[in-house]
Amino acid sequence: MVICKSPSELEKMYKAGQIVWGALDKMRTMVKPGVTTQDLDEFAEAWTVQHKARPAFKGYRGYPGSVCTSINQEVVHGIPSKSRKLKEGDILSMDFGVELDGYYGDAALTVPVGKVSPTREKLLRVTRESLEQAIDKVRPGNRLGDVSAAVQAWVEKNGYSVVREFVGHGIGTKMHEDPQLPNYGSPGHGVKLQEGMVLAIEPMVNTGGPGVRVLDDDWTAVTADGSDSAHFEHTVAVTANGPWILTRPRDAEGPVW
Ligand code: MF3
Ligand code: CO
Repeated sequence: MVICKSPSELEKMYKAGQIVWGALDKMRTMVKPGVTTQDLDEFAEAWTVQHKARPAFKGYRGYPGSVCTSINQEVVHGIPSKSRKLKEGDILSMDFGVELDGYYGDAALTVPVGKVSPTREKLLRVTRESLEQAIDKVRPGNRLGDVSAAVQAWVEKNGYSVVREFVGHGIGTKMHEDPQLPNYGSPGHGVKLQEGMVLAIEPMVNTGGPGVRVLDDDWTAVTADGSDSAHFEHTVAVTANGPWILTRPRDAEGPVW
């Protein structure tokens, strides 16, 4: 069952979303060679506590971190560690969520560490653009398949593939609500979007094949073929005026990340 949120509930989700955005926006400036993924996790947790919120991932199904930090061929759910130092040329995905006053926000982005190869730069751009194309479909009367298909079309047109095993999701008083939102699908199919629905849209894109496997730590998903992977995400509400990105300031302009 897809739960629609009232305007006052959306305001609460916006407040949670701003804490998520604020943390990630600061973390992207901290990303440099020599920084560990643990440093980023510690910052995110401290920031969240300062803002009287709760890191939503910590303890979720036993997940040990506050942030997911996934490097290069790691797709999602990389566990922060003090032995994991960022290197020049790496790409780092940071996925973060909080709960504030019973409501959730969830967002992610992938950033370069120092200077990266043109191929990696292109992967980051195409994945961000696929999120932008998807967000543009978040309008009353459109269907979920329009959102999914927008991601898939942009990614495949650029010669990359979308991961099948992990999907976006509804979000609200739980981190994961109905509906599931695959990054592939058919326009005109699926649930009809209505005012008040909120979706966490999160394309995961590989430069090689779509396959993934999970490492022995039971969390880190990596590409099956060792190719690079990127991940971008926003929490987006359906409004009469179109998409409202809750995990970014209201007055922001330009690229979504
Ligand atoms: N953004 C991811 C999701 O929506 C992260 C959650 S995984 C966790 O599913 F276990 F770390 F919480
Ligand atoms: Co999510």
